[in-house]
Amino acid sequence: MKLNIFANQEQLHEAAAQTIIELLRQKPDAVLGLATGGTPVGIYEALAAAVRRGEVSFARATTFNLDEYVGLPPGHPETYRFYMEQHLFRHIDIPPEQTHIPDGNAPELERECERYERLLETAGRIDLMLLGLGHNGHIGFNEPGRVLHSRTHVAVLHPQTRKANARFFRTPEEVPTRAITMGLGSILKARTILLVVKGADKADIVHRALTGPLTTECPASLLQLHPHLVVMLDEEAATKIKRAASG
Ligand code: GLP
Repeated sequence: MKLNIFANQEQLHEAAAQTIIELLRQKPDAVLGLATGGTPVGIYEALAAAVRRGEVSFARATTFNLDEYVGLPPGHPETYRFYMEQHLFRHIDIPPEQTHIPDGNAPELERECERYERLLETAGRIDLMLLGLGHNGHIGFNEPGRVLHSRTHVAVLHPQTRKANARFFRTPEEVPTRAITMGLGSILKARTILLVVKGADKADIVHRALTGPLTTECPASLLQLHPHLVVMLDEEAATKIKRAASG
């Protein structure tokens, strides 16, 4: 595991964006796994700025998002499709048909999961998977529990996750109860995983995920198995890990 700690969020955003930019320069047709939530917004801004400055192109890249809520009407501002358009896709030169997000309104959700899994398989391995971390250790919407799933599946959102994401909705009741998410197998198959975590409220969980036991109760703990895991933290998220490292 490569651990990088940044003095502030701007530096972290720039460094994460730079990792993606360097990959695209070396491999213009790279396959990227993308995340949503508050964490990657600054990274996407930095990527959009780099495209504007002509420093990088996404024209030949393919993207796969981790997850999508089930049942939000198409175009709803909290769908992850809308989020991706707003924060990244409309600002970069990627052809829309090269961007993939599960369809949370598919009439048959199981079929949609199979379709997404097939698309992932056809694309080959994800070159770089960008991940955030949920307060309960979830990645994508792979929630803590007795079992984890390897493949794309319909997940029931943990009450803590619905509470955390309620800040994006008008009322807590509006937060969907289910989502389609890539499974742990699809995530761990990526050549490189870039885990980005910010803020004092994630210091405990990132410490547990990266130094604690491997357990389905903390899905992100499985990332410890990955041979190319790059972790980027801001100072606030790093406090507990740093304390543990200094004995
Ligand atoms: C969300 C997403 C995850 C994300 C995580 C953390 O619900 N499904 O992909 O990484 O929770 O979100 P945030 O970055 O807003 O803390």
